[in-house]
Amino acid sequence: YWGSLINPKTLTCYDACPNSLIAVSSVGNILWTAHDVGPSQLSHILVQHGCPDAHIVRLNEGQFLMPGFIDTHTHAAQVPIVGTGYGLELLKWLNELVFPCETKFKDKEYAEEVYPLVVKRFIASGTTTCCYYGSLHLEATNVLATAAHSLGQRALIGKCNMDKHTPGDESDYIECSAAVSIEHTHAFIHHVHSLSPGPSEDPKNPLIYPILTPRFALSCSDDLLKRLQHVATSHPHLHIQTHISENPKEVEEVKKRFGCDYAEVYNKYGLLRHNTILGHAVYLNDKEIDLIVEKKAGVSHCPISNFNLKSGVAPIGKYLDRGVKVGLGTDVSGGFSSSMLDAMRDASIASTVLALQNNPSDAPEQENKFANQQLPIATLLYLATLGGAEVCALEHHIGSLDRGKSFDALIVDLHHEAVSDLKEMLGRFIFAGDNRNISAVYVQGKLVGGTSHCA
Ligand code: GUN
Ligand code: FE
Repeated sequence: YWGSLINPKTLTCYDACPNSLIAVSSVGNILWTAHDVGPSQLSHILVQHGCPDAHIVRLNEGQFLMPGFIDTHTHAAQVPIVGTGYGLELLKWLNELVFPCETKFKDKEYAEEVYPLVVKRFIASGTTTCCYYGSLHLEATNVLATAAHSLGQRALIGKCNMDKHTPGDESDYIECSAAVSIEHTHAFIHHVHSLSPGPSEDPKNPLIYPILTPRFALSCSDDLLKRLQHVATSHPHLHIQTHISENPKEVEEVKKRFGCDYAEVYNKYGLLRHNTILGHAVYLNDKEIDLIVEKKAGVSHCPISNFNLKSGVAPIGKYLDRGVKVGLGTDVSGGFSSSMLDAMRDASIASTVLALQNNPSDAPEQENKFANQQLPIATLLYLATLGGAEVCALEHHIGSLDRGKSFDALIVDLHHEAVSDLKEMLGRFIFAGDNRNISAVYVQGKLVGGTSHCA
């Protein structure tokens, strides 16, 4: 691949190189990269690297390559109600809209109809790795894993563990026992391992990962939490995802039931570790932040949802200052968009709200501090890519286009826009772009989506 490249480096810095060359192996790994390669040097460099006959994809004027987006928190089983429920808050919204929607996935044929469209929708948004919550159903969640695998998206997929009613809910959308919840979890993990790694996949870098998914503390009985602890402890490489401190009423209910901080509940059951993804984290106290840093767990910032459900504004700048790993999540259908571009925009707005509230406009800008500052573009880019990879504990494989990583990438096309400066193009894409500007989506070197892709 030869053309302009945007590549995240740190929370405050990214590369913008107009003439980059990225060599990708037949199995989709980045073999080497070279920068400032002019047209006259191209064939020389290919000869130098021993591949004079390499097939070259030449990007056009107005296009650039960047790593694909990593959505660290979303609900595949809620896509059918995306964009509805405006005005409701978390617990009422779960009971009135979400649980009835997810109940429909008890029908495997319904899942077979819906899930391939869900995966295509996220791929079209440029999401190359997606952390999906399914419903509580084993069969339907198997269908989701099969769909993501066959459509070529990288994904962490979880069957929800939930054997307890949330406050105010009396529906039958819960599992019949903790034992069945765990039995189905093992069966789901087995299904994923039967799919991925497939024969052409690297066992150390598969496309689909199972992820342990206790929905949130309130939907798990003490018995289920204990059994989940056992599963987690006996599978140290198994990822874990859950929700934490999203809404004040929810936090209060957790305190009432468990008598401790929210993060402490998960820690007590061995569910806070380097490969745990904590959705939302709007209301963490200082002790919880310290605990999360100590355990190296990551936070999925879901600003679209946090605004839409009136949950609150997560102090992401403060978390970054304290060394918390942070990625972004769309949280469909709490969030009304499956596009990580919208998550980046709303992360910017959330940081701006906190800056306006807490930072007098004449205060001097503090270097190396994010708290109460509008997040820079470099930070938004990082959160949507490398930050997400860290939160998934997959930063050695994905998140940037560096040597040794998977070629999980986008070709962004802004040729209709009158901009030529590469950094300006990135800003234009983040704040004013959409799916129409994503001409190619590659996962592990394979074209899986984008406007140039005909399925
Ligand atoms: N907390 C428990 N379940 C959910 C869910 O489906 N969405 C959101 N946003 N929060 C939750
Ligand atoms: Fe969620």
